Amino acid sequence: MIPGSTFHGRNASPDLLDAERILAALSPGGRRAIARLEIHAEIDSTNRYLMREAATGAPCGTLCLAECQTAGRGRLGRSWVSPFGANLYLSMLWRYKAPPAALGGFSLVAGAVVADVLRRIGAGGLALKWPNDLLWDRRKLGGMLLEVAGEAKGPSALVVGIGINVRMTPDHGRAIDQPWVDLAEVLGGSRVDRNTLAALIVDALIDALERFDREGLTPFLALWDGFDAFRGEQARILLADQEIRGRVLGIASDGALRLETADGERRFHAGDVSLRRECDGEGEGER
Ligand code: BTN
Repeated sequence: MIPGSTFHGRNASPDLLDAERILAALSPGGRRAIARLEIHAEIDSTNRYLMREAATGAPCGTLCLAECQTAGRGRLGRSWVSPFGANLYLSMLWRYKAPPAALGGFSLVAGAVVADVLRRIGAGGLALKWPNDLLWDRRKLGGMLLEVAGEAKGPSALVVGIGINVRMTPDHGRAIDQPWVDLAEVLGGSRVDRNTLAALIVDALIDALERFDREGLTPFLALWDGFDAFRGEQARILLADQEIRGRVLGIASDGALRLETADGERRFHAGDVSLRRECDGEGEGER
């Protein structure tokens, strides 16, 4: 085991997350890039935890997974339903010399990379709703939450949080306020080993975090485009105090959403922005 790899809590069943098994399934490069790996039986939120750790000097490459989150966080202030032992809740801390403002595009990269990994293990029909909602059959399979802290001119600490519904019971699913799906259904009932899945995602994420540092968003645009769930669709953008309608043109080179409106093309950056299909009502459809 690499120094600093710990398991906080019980680990009786082979199905539980296991630091040794994750490390064994990683590529040599992935293993080298991980400075610290923590698996918690229960935590408030893996993202919140790593943001706290980042503030006290945790190194680049600190990886945290949990069997359950008591206060899992989603985008736009929503909560993320995080029952024990069923799904994947994973956060990675990465440090960049660049300022926080330069890292916004990674929000799209994270979604594209996770979708690509799942496609490689046999999940067909995946789609991304800008910026990074992972959908299947218009139902939510996973999501990413990126949080960043740093100086205006850099450096920055980026926490990439990834949540994937792997095996959600209908009981737990009732707490989710939108249509959802889990990987077991997407894969036609095949069982997914969560340690292997975690390693595949972490390997791909590390590659992407390193490449983004060298080359920015550009090399990932085509991958994201290939999963675009909304391109060509009539849609609504919900801002804090207004709603803008138009046809989705895709994403710009900086990751902004391009919308063709009655007043011409407008671009939106991820943040406090929500995208809906024109035909979805206020309280329905994926968010
Ligand atoms: C979304 O709203 O789509 C984003 C969901 C992100 C959930 C993950 S689970 C691991 C990490 N810890 C959190 O509290 N949230 C993210």
